[in-house]
This record gives sequence, C-alpha cells and structure tokens, in this order.
Amino acid sequence: MTFEEVLDSWDGETAVIHRDRKSGAWIFICVHSTLLGPAGGGTRMKVYGAPAEGLQDAMRLSAAMTRKLAVAGVPLGGGKAVIAVEEIPSGEQRRALFLRYGNLVASLGGTYRTSSDMNTGEADMDVIGERTEYVFGRSVGAGGAGSPAPPTATGVFHGIRASLSHVFGSDDLEGRTVVVQGAGSVGSPLAGHLAGAGATVLVADIDPARAQLVAARVGGAAVPADEVLEAECDVYAPCAVGGILSVETVPRLRCRIIAGSANNQLADPEAAELLRERGILYAPDYVINAGGAIALVGLEQLGWSKSESDIALAGIGETLRGIYERADSHGISTAAAADALAEARLHAR
Ligand code: PHE
Repeated sequence: MTFEEVLDSWDGETAVIHRDRKSGAWIFICVHSTLLGPAGGGTRMKVYGAPAEGLQDAMRLSAAMTRKLAVAGVPLGGGKAVIAVEEIPSGEQRRALFLRYGNLVASLGGTYRTSSDMNTGEADMDVIGERTEYVFGRSVGAGGAGSPAPPTATGVFHGIRASLSHVFGSDDLEGRTVVVQGAGSVGSPLAGHLAGAGATVLVADIDPARAQLVAARVGGAAVPADEVLEAECDVYAPCAVGGILSVETVPRLRCRIIAGSANNQLADPEAAELLRERGILYAPDYVINAGGAIALVGLEQLGWSKSESDIALAGIGETLRGIYERADSHGISTAAAADALAEARLHAR
C-alpha cells in the first residue's frame, strides 16, 4: 500500500509521525477519536516489514480502542501508538528510547494517554512516567496499577461465562473444554481461572515449551499451535495474534464459542456473518478484552478501589449478554451488534 492509501483508509483525527533518529525507529501515535475524552490506548513495539505497516497497525488498533472504550463506558477516546523498530532493544538503549518516546507523548499535552501493549511492559511505562504523567500501567512501586494483563484475563473469564450461559443455558465450566491459544501474559492467567473453575484446558503457543509449561501448571494439556483452529471444543479463546477469523478459517472451526483477548480477531468483516450462519457465538474482541483498560483507567484515573474495579470487570459479562440479545433479536452478527452499541455511545454524548 502507498502512503496515501494508508492515510485514506483511516477515519481518525490525528496521526503523529515521528522518526527517532538515534535508533532509526519510526514512531506513530494515532489519535482516532477524542469524542468521549482524551485518547487512551497502548504502545506496541514491533519489527515490521515496512514502516507503513506499523502505521496501518496503529490506525486500525486506534479505531478499535475508540469502540472498546466507548462500550466499556470509560471516559476516554481511542488511540494507539506503534514503535516500529529494526530490532527489539534492551538495556540502556531501550531506556533511552522510552525516555525520548515519553517526551513525544508529553508534547501532546494529554491528548494521547498511553499504556503497555505487545512487547512493552510496566518497566517501560515507568520510564515514560519520568517524562509525562499521561501513562497508565506503571508498576505498583512507581504509583501505577501494574500490567493490564491480569485484569484483561479476568474480564475474558467473565466473558466466557456469559457466552456459555447464552449458548448452553448455564455458565458452569465443569465438563467444558476450552482451547487457550497463546500462553502469554493474558492466556496464562486465563488458563488458571478456567482450570480453577473446573474446565478442561488445552493450551497452544507458537513456542511449544511455553504451552507445555502453562498446561502443566493448570493441569491441562498442550496442543500443537497448528491444530488450534480444528480443535473440537466448547470455547476457543484466541489470546495471541489477531486476524485469525477469515472466510477461509471459519468453515474449519469446531467450537461453539469464540471468546478470547486478542485484538482485531476478524481478518474479514464477512467472517462475523459466517460465524453467525454457522451458529458459532463470537464474543466481539474489543468488548471481551477491555478488562485491562477498564481496571487501569478506573484505578489510576477514576479513583476506584480494587472491589469497584472487580465489579466493573464482571460488567463485561453483562455487556456481552446485552450484545448477544441484541444480535439475536435483530438477526445480526454479534460484531455488528457491538459496533451499533459503540456508535450509539459515541453519538449519545
Ligand atoms: N493497552 C491496553 C489496551 O489497549 C490497556 C489500556 C488501554 C489501558 C487504554 C489504559 C488505557 O486495551
């Protein structure tokens, strides 16, 4: 795609394009919408084939953040940042890069508020915090609420229960089989919650040793990463890469429910309708994975207690129930029902 094509494909407000000369990294900060408040969203660090792919990723992810935060009822608009690096830095170089990045975030005066995302974590947020107050997810020691991953896993767990109850009339996990794809910072605690509630948990990861480790810890079994799509199960929980649901992959699925934390799960918009036709219940990604944002914004910006945050995380299940009912009664996909809810929130202001 050319640069103009990339820019034309996006309906956001502002894209900041910054070249970090010292490291060669390209930094993209996309403010998709400030209708409901300053734009919130994580900073993803990744090696891309070309810088334009990083910009495109930030644009797409920032639009999902607008919908995510609108449906979550959090007073923030949507944004996302990408640091497109030549290789993932460590040590002093990494610290220096995040200090410079912190200056860039600071220069936006609070229009964009960052947090951690793929390949960034609490330690990086602490470094950004040396330059700007507009950062969520610093370590507890530095005054933050820590990583968004554990509350994201809790939110997904509530979402899985609500989905089970919609399909089977009971949210009991006893006797249910769940495939967790991705044994990372969300997949791993999610596998623990599921096993603790009595589910049979199958774990897959591109790193088989990591899958094995998490499976052993929760008393489940590891499955090869390339068998996930066709695995027979009640719930398929994608907690790794996005783009897994397409017109090509949906016909191969053998699950009743898709409910996981990965961002941008639908590779083609038509896949949502195909899932509906196949009778597979899809928990819209940006609804079920909002737990990290809900907890971090609640605890750090809205002054919530831990128990208020827990109640809000359980609310993800309620929100999904509402979306499922709306999808059924209107004869539309769950993704379309979620988008309609997001639109309504954005225009009811
Ligand atoms: N980075 C996480 C996400 O994209 C969590 C988060 C978002 C935290 C926005 C605070 C604000 O969902």
